[in-house]
Amino acid sequence: MVEEEGRILSNVVASQVELHARYGGIVPEVASRQHLLSIVPVLERAMAGPGLDWQDLDGVAVTVGPGLPGSLLVGLNVAKAIALARNLPLLGVNHLEGHIYAHWLEVEEGGGAPFPCLCLVVSGGHSELVLMRGHGQFQSLGRTRDDASGEAFDKAARILGLGYPGGPAIQAAAGKGKASFRLPRAWLKDSHDFSFSGVKTALWRLVEEIKGGDPLPVFDLAASFQEAVVDALVANTLETAREYQVEGILLAGGVAANSRLREVMGERSILPVLIPSPALCTDNAAMIAACGCYHLRAGGVAGWDLDVDSGLRLG
Ligand code: KG4
Ligand code: ZN
Repeated sequence: MVEEEGRILSNVVASQVELHARYGGIVPEVASRQHLLSIVPVLERAMAGPGLDWQDLDGVAVTVGPGLPGSLLVGLNVAKAIALARNLPLLGVNHLEGHIYAHWLEVEEGGGAPFPCLCLVVSGGHSELVLMRGHGQFQSLGRTRDDASGEAFDKAARILGLGYPGGPAIQAAAGKGKASFRLPRAWLKDSHDFSFSGVKTALWRLVEEIKGGDPLPVFDLAASFQEAVVDALVANTLETAREYQVEGILLAGGVAANSRLREVMGERSILPVLIPSPALCTDNAAMIAACGCYHLRAGGVAGWDLDVDSGLRLG
């Protein structure tokens, strides 16, 4: 639950990490069934805090995409039920736009990133460069051509036997090693797109080569992989920021929780770099509510025909 000014009143996160770790990744059917089991208890907890009341709600924001249809449908149906029962406006939110609005949860009313700003949205399913000219005004400038950066972290962790989810595992291992192996950084000419499948394959080859002989230097390999991904993300973002003459850079999505990415982007950018706290970078409901507040202000209320769109784009 979020106030219009962006203050978080409650933010309950139900993690499926342990469940997915058992399968080594997300199985869509398993994920949607877990949503079904979790959603009402999570809602009850979110509304149970002191001073919180269903009667105080001005609207219901819900993610409509991109994402796994089964999981999105569970959320949308419950949101429609609340909106119907309490006669509230329903607000459909793009998940990636939600990630960007995590930033506005931590700024004063009327403040926030300067426009135009360049948003780097990096999550388990997406790596996108999006130009934001104002609230709700997005233009897509680049995206990944293959793996998303979060997906690359997850796959690299599997190659190194570090478990799931890979991002935090790689970050922890990298902290104990040195980036002593040179892994490739894809640089796509005349494009703002990313590509992360090459660095993943290079890591796999390196591991296969070393495996025969010495014990695997897992920490150094993790640090080298993290450095290559961070370098590619930062270089493309700064180049695009220069080209579009933006006023600031905004990082969002689960991978924006990565401490090395936060550090390198801050060091190499001459522009202000704005990044939500790590806990607000990974998936949460407060960011969706924050985005919903802006939709409500702009009159972007959805009808009962609101549907999910697993391939929804931003800009
Ligand atoms: O945004 P998010 O929570 O969910 C999606 O919308 O996908 O992002 C999850 C992704 C996962 O791939 C996870 O490995 C990655 O974000 N991630 C990280 C870190 N924390 C989460 N990647 C690198 N470093 C981290 N500290
Ligand atoms: Zn996400």
